[in-house]
Amino acid sequence: MARQIAHVWWGMFAFATLVLVAVSAIWIYALARKPRETSKEQAVRINRRWVIGGGIVLPSLSIVVLLIFGIPTGRSMMPLPVEGQQPLKIEVTGHQWWWEVHYPDSGVTTANQLIIPAGRLIDVNVTSADVIHSFWIPRLGGKMDMIPGRTNVIRLQAGHTGVFHGQCSEFCGLQHAHMKLHVEALDDAGFDNWIAARENLSFTQRAPGEAGQVFDERCGQCHRVAGISNGSRAPDLSDIATRPSLGAGVIDNDHDGLRQWLREHKTLKFGNGMPAHDDVPPQTLDQIADWLETLAP
Ligand code: CUA
Repeated sequence: MARQIAHVWWGMFAFATLVLVAVSAIWIYALARKPRETSKEQAVRINRRWVIGGGIVLPSLSIVVLLIFGIPTGRSMMPLPVEGQQPLKIEVTGHQWWWEVHYPDSGVTTANQLIIPAGRLIDVNVTSADVIHSFWIPRLGGKMDMIPGRTNVIRLQAGHTGVFHGQCSEFCGLQHAHMKLHVEALDDAGFDNWIAARENLSFTQRAPGEAGQVFDERCGQCHRVAGISNGSRAPDLSDIATRPSLGAGVIDNDHDGLRQWLREHKTLKFGNGMPAHDDVPPQTLDQIADWLETLAP
């Protein structure tokens, strides 16, 4: 559907460009030519020709051409048939200012990244935990409002594997611009592996260690880490080490980025819900950062 709408858009753009060029040419000609001596009757006749031709006939013709061009697309915008294929359901919840992503079939939860299988139909069930956000992945077409207390469904299909960028597209407060979504379409096997690695993930299977306990005390009220803490107000960090960015696209998730984020997140993303860490000794922050870097399936 998105491809067809894009097709119509480009057609209309080409046509409108033609009209612009034609109108500009006539206008320049009218300015440049020498005025002709005409009688009053001649002037009326010429004016009438321009009014009927340029004001009624040409616009009507243009609209009919565009209409004929657009009708087939309009007709094909009926709901997409599902041919023996059950769409994969994914739940995405908007928060100020991050994305919670949940796969109900497997119970996997992640944040600020949406991993999908390429070629499959996906029903993204979107809602919001606070204000109205809007789910938008331009290259996959369509856009859907995320409204508190209501679930909207947008059906997507990525034509090929690769990375697509998503962005909240409804002004939702101070950090609306810093509400990016990393979308990645994997092949079927890659997607199954991705899910399988996160199903029944628990970090208590390895020793959580001292840092895990510090994290649980300081951060566990808000953040969930599989097997360690159960907070739900902030992003689930169970696979944080595998995500490309922090703060929903604010800073790269690498060794330095992670430490900078923990120290300066209030400046990097003013207004975000995480308390400042001024009271936390730097070595404790480093310890937590070291530990977060191990959180991968
Ligand atoms: Cu969320 Cu704008």
